[in-house]
Amino acid sequence: MDLRIFLVGFGNVGRAFSALLKDRVASILCSSGVNLKLAAVATRSKGTACHDEGLEISHLLESERITGRVDSSGQKGVLVGKPVVDMIEGLDFDVLVECSSPDLERGEPATSYIMMALDKGKDVVTSNKGPLFHNYHILSEIASQRKASFLFEGTVMTGTPVFSLFRRCLIGSRVLRIEGVLNGTSNFILDMMKRGSSFERALMEVQRRAYSEPDPFLDIDGWDSASKASIIAQVLMDAPFTPFSEISIEGIRTLDPDLFIRADRMAGSVRLICRVEKQADSYAISVKPEILPSNHPLCSVSGITNGALFMTDTIGEICITGAGAGPLQTAHALLMDILSLQGNFSRR
Ligand code: HSE
Repeated sequence: MDLRIFLVGFGNVGRAFSALLKDRVASILCSSGVNLKLAAVATRSKGTACHDEGLEISHLLESERITGRVDSSGQKGVLVGKPVVDMIEGLDFDVLVECSSPDLERGEPATSYIMMALDKGKDVVTSNKGPLFHNYHILSEIASQRKASFLFEGTVMTGTPVFSLFRRCLIGSRVLRIEGVLNGTSNFILDMMKRGSSFERALMEVQRRAYSEPDPFLDIDGWDSASKASIIAQVLMDAPFTPFSEISIEGIRTLDPDLFIRADRMAGSVRLICRVEKQADSYAISVKPEILPSNHPLCSVSGITNGALFMTDTIGEICITGAGAGPLQTAHALLMDILSLQGNFSRR
């Protein structure tokens, strides 16, 4: 069975996703009988391209590397230049993969693209935090009305299974409280500073490795962490959307150097900690650098890794750690979500 993918966004993640798809398409066909085809690619500034039989991914990657555009591969029969909304409206595809760079202020234009696709009954997979942070409840309501799937494992902890853990293994459990290290960039910087690096050098290194957001201040000033904490709260605790103005946010840009000395003295670590707590009839969300003692489960979550500690009403505490950032890791999360749609496809 063919599964036609419409990819929106061709930055680090879109590129890594296409490369991973090319690498895995044969083994996925062999193991599951699903033939993944990249039917279309749309970008804000690099053009758009689609092909009835599927785009040739190696040509696409190579031509984008050389020309910076997705519409210059020279593949015969490729249609170029169609506006994204027309493509969502008129193209024959099965799943929209939305991985354009996040707009944490409004979640646009990704929210509109996702909404349009879900409204047409198409499945959507995304790694984009903006639409989830601002519109999770609306989007999941449209998905359920249209009987479409809406998966977003790559938005938080970059594919370390947070949402699928609760959807599958801990189904029925309630999350009462969350503590997390949810921003890989800040954690990486804090660890480099612990080893004596300046803040500026650590920031340059994390940017060089493409872990940070295009605007790295979203990472170091705590906005990325706050949006992820809020996404977890909305998805797993049924919290309403909480605007940034109602989240207590403190980043790592102006840290007191004494913090590292005190952390060292108690063999602990400085971590940018997100907390979500259900109160009587509200949810308190905060982001703040803290010293964690050595026996805290998140103390040893180092470098680009993320970690989250969930207090549940069934099994008590559960802690997961894993990849926190990186194009390949995010690409893997998107592919994992697409593959988990398979059950839905075979039922059609
Ligand atoms: N900039 C983000 C981080 C990428 O460092 O955690 C993953 O969401």
